[in-house]
Amino acid sequence: MTYNLLKGKRGIIFGALNEDSIAWKVAMRAKEEGATFTLTNTAVAIRMGDTNKLGELCNAEVIPADATNVEDLENLITKSMEVLGGKIDFVLHSIGMSPNVRKGKHYSDLDYGLLDKTLDISAISFHKVIQSCRKLDALNEWASVIGLSYVAAQRSFVGYNDMADAKALLESIARSFGYIYGRERNVRINTISQSPTYTTAGGGIKGFDGLLDFSERMSPLGNASGDECADYCIVMFSDLTRKVTMQNLFHDGGFSNMGMSLRAMHTYNKGMCCDCDPECDHEHKYD
Ligand SMILES: NC(=O)c1ccc[n+]([C@@H]2O[C@H](COP(=O)([O-])OP(=O)(O)OC[C@H]3O[C@@H](n4cnc5c(N)ncnc54)[C@H](O)[C@@H]3O)[C@@H](O)[C@H]2O)c1
Repeated sequence: MTYNLLKGKRGIIFGALNEDSIAWKVAMRAKEEGATFTLTNTAVAIRMGDTNKLGELCNAEVIPADATNVEDLENLITKSMEVLGGKIDFVLHSIGMSPNVRKGKHYSDLDYGLLDKTLDISAISFHKVIQSCRKLDALNEWASVIGLSYVAAQRSFVGYNDMADAKALLESIARSFGYIYGRERNVRINTISQSPTYTTAGGGIKGFDGLLDFSERMSPLGNASGDECADYCIVMFSDLTRKVTMQNLFHDGGFSNMGMSLRAMHTYNKGMCCDCDPECDHEHKYD
């Protein structure tokens, strides 16, 4: 179902690597809703991934930029305004990477050089994108900027490692810059805290399959899919949410407000019984 929610709006979408990417799904939905936009990723990701294919599908120009490099960002933003014929109405920051996670470093034995990279790529790049937009006066009044986050910013998920710290910083940047840009230009800045979703970045997290299953059982509405996340981003880019800013918006089927669910308890009890007694005939009365 389409609603023309982004008719006439211009955007920049970071982070579509392949069909699984959340940014890919946002781009497809934004196109359906009448937006025009540019796509961007690192030069390597564009070479190795499918960003160009998405560009063809969406009739969108692909402009390489390393989101940690301010010069690249300024070039991207300037070119995007040229290509799209005016200032920008929405920006999706869908970027995350931890070299510590990639190298299998435990949180209690982090490489601090790699931690700098995690924070720069996954959080400070959000600041760089917004600051570059502001310096170039690239955003229209009531523009909407979204970064994607995860509940490990608030609660401990051991396998999420230093990405948890990056997400806490990302959400803080949305608040700090949201105030400044809101006062000056009515620009909205928010983060969406998404359920675990099977993507290249998501799959890199230790114990990801177990986490996906656990949070599915814990959430009253189940995990939110990548397509559902795209729907939420579209609403946040639209004029229907003009007074929402400086928020971390949970899009997780209710997970973030749960303590324990009966479905998760059931599975836990079954595991306990099977572990301790193969003959166990315990009745799982919590179904
Ligand atoms: N998948 C999940 O479970 C999940 C859950 C909550 C939040 N998120 C967040 O969603 C966002 C998108 O991730 P995804 O799950 O779609 O995975 P993905 O791997 O498809 O996307 C991550 C993107 O970041 C890009 N990237 C990495 N370094 C970059 C740099 N220096 N400059 C520009 N781009 C760079 C990658 O090329 C890739 O396109 C991330 O912020 C991620 O943390 C994901």
